[in-house]
Amino acid sequence: MKIGILGTGVVGRTLGTKLVSLGHAVTMGSRSESNKAAAAWAKAAGKGAATGTFAAAAKAGEVVLNCTSGQHALEAVALAGSDNLNGKILVDVSNPLDFSHGMPPTLTVCNTDSLAEQIQRAFPGIRVVKALNTVNSAVMVDPSLVPGEHELFLCGNERAAKAKVAELLGELGWTRDRLVDLGDITAARATEMLLPFWARAMTKFGHANFNFHLAVGGPA
Ligand SMILES: NC(=O)c1ccc[n+]([C@@H]2O[C@H](COP(=O)([O-])OP(=O)(O)OC[C@H]3O[C@@H](n4cnc5c(N)ncnc54)[C@H](OP(=O)(O)O)[C@@H]3O)[C@@H](O)[C@H]2O)c1
Repeated sequence: MKIGILGTGVVGRTLGTKLVSLGHAVTMGSRSESNKAAAAWAKAAGKGAATGTFAAAAKAGEVVLNCTSGQHALEAVALAGSDNLNGKILVDVSNPLDFSHGMPPTLTVCNTDSLAEQIQRAFPGIRVVKALNTVNSAVMVDPSLVPGEHELFLCGNERAAKAKVAELLGELGWTRDRLVDLGDITAARATEMLLPFWARAMTKFGHANFNFHLAVGGPA
């Protein structure tokens, strides 16, 4: 499949490398056509890896992953262009983190709204699915880094879009039993609000190879 990745950071590069290794044609987008991190990634990832602007990546992808800085995600998606994205699935991996007051980061939006909802509202023609934002990039592409039962949450307004994303997540190693569909895009409030907890846990463990597990009993 043709996949566009918005973002040249560790998340975009890690997902891009894995997806190329699985045989997908990946175009990584950036603000600039000649981004050094993207060029180095494409060289290392090899055949199937291409680079360009956010707009070029959005245009090239049948499915597009938003792996941009949360504080600039709306700008990045705007640069990618609704004309290039309308009707397509945008997997929103970004988190609305503000590091300007030091660690741990705070959230720029929470409780009654989320970054995923802001993107969905600003670009109603895009099929936004929130996923992958609650695990570290290494775990995203290799769930076996964390032993035992643990899950990935997804949400979005459209069932068919979530089913397609679930297939892609399956290719990354996230089997169906590990996927928890939390409902419509407003559930992104919950998954984005896990990030302050996630950051505290990382400080405690000293590394990021951990994940959340929901232990579910029967109804009362
Ligand atoms: N690190 C993780 O393991 C992890 C795990 C889960 C979720 N996340 C989330 O995934 C996202 C990506 O994280 P990351 O660490 O890989 O990268 P990042 O440093 O948070 O973001 C890098 C991307 O943001 C773009 N960007 C920065 N300022 C911009 C602006 N003013 N306008 C438009 N785009 C701008 C950059 O564009 P250029 O390419 O042009 O420089 C670059 O592509 C974040 O939202 C993060 O919270 C990260």
